[in-house]
Amino acid sequence: MRAMVIDGFGGPEVFHMADIEIPKPGPGEVLIRIAYASVNPADWKCREGWLSQFFTYKFPFVVGFDAAGVIAGLGEGVTDYKIGDRVVTSSNQGIGENGSYAEYLKSVTDRVSHIADSLDFKTAASIPTAAVTSWEGLFGTGDLKAGQSVLINGGAGGMGSFGIQFAKHAGARVAATCGPGNIDYVKSLGADLAIDYRSQNVLDGVLAWAPGGVDVIMDTVGQGTLADGIAMTKPGGVIAPIGTLIQNEPQFDPVAAAARNVRVVPTMSNRMKAGDQLRTIVDLYGKGVFRAPEINVLPLEQAGLAHTKVKDGHVRGKIVLQVADI
Ligand SMILES: NC(=O)c1ccc[n+]([C@@H]2O[C@H](COP(=O)([O-])OP(=O)(O)OC[C@H]3O[C@@H](n4cnc5c(N)ncnc54)[C@H](OP(=O)(O)O)[C@@H]3O)[C@@H](O)[C@H]2O)c1
Repeated sequence: MRAMVIDGFGGPEVFHMADIEIPKPGPGEVLIRIAYASVNPADWKCREGWLSQFFTYKFPFVVGFDAAGVIAGLGEGVTDYKIGDRVVTSSNQGIGENGSYAEYLKSVTDRVSHIADSLDFKTAASIPTAAVTSWEGLFGTGDLKAGQSVLINGGAGGMGSFGIQFAKHAGARVAATCGPGNIDYVKSLGADLAIDYRSQNVLDGVLAWAPGGVDVIMDTVGQGTLADGIAMTKPGGVIAPIGTLIQNEPQFDPVAAAARNVRVVPTMSNRMKAGDQLRTIVDLYGKGVFRAPEINVLPLEQAGLAHTKVKDGHVRGKIVLQVADI
């Protein structure tokens, strides 16, 4: 099969197209023929070798967490899927197996969801990592409820594009930060307040909108960009900083957080919950509850360009790679 592989760590130039063996699904796994693979910030970090702390890479290695396509093979004991079913998955790449920048991947069924005919493959492919982690940040860590207020730092990115919609759907009031060119986009997703972090004081903007602070902050940007986050959070509230894997990342001050009775709970996608969360989100998409984030499509061969754009940190919505015209 065709796959964009890396033979070692490095910049986007390490990607090259190769012909590698189609994986064989094991017990409880399915083989998926991929239509689209989406690109996440974790992918360029993976290409640069940052995931060595979690697993040993075997080269040639296929990067990519997310994919949508059709079932092309069934491992032993799989009864919930049949050949040709339309599905989306989060790949086994997080545990060191080959990922989704390829014509086929195998995945454990717990991390697969059927998709409705109304949900196109490129939207489906954009969902697993960004949407599931947003769900975990808002409703797992944040325990966000109807009537509460939430600030999403990074409203225009992958996580923000899903998170704003999820929080609104849950009945929360939603504020989000973004650059000046993304104010209309963030509002179109349902944000009640969009704060231009380049020209506005975010603390003033939040406190004018939510006197006393918000109940929940989901910080998808990190890197010290939300320096006043604790002061923006209501006593008793929670901040969910999403794990960026960046070394020596500035942290929210634990002493100031304790003094204000604000919990800071570092948050990642939770492998134990991710499958059920994916199926919940995809089901709501199938019912037409959510709209797609803005999606830019590049061919699989341009994975390197996609990584350059994502690493630059200002992609609106999601980039997906088209693998096959299914
Ligand atoms: N550990 C996990 O389980 C997990 C899972 C998912 C994601 N993550 C991490 O979470 C982070 C976000 O992921 P993502 O997919 O949402 O990334 P993304 O789509 O690449 O985010 C890009 C967005 O960030 C916004 N942004 C950049 N600087 C900003 C700032 N100072 N203030 C507000 N917004 C800013 C940009 O908006 P403007 O152009 O308007 O500035 C852009 O739309 C990444 O570090 C990723 O690795 C971790």
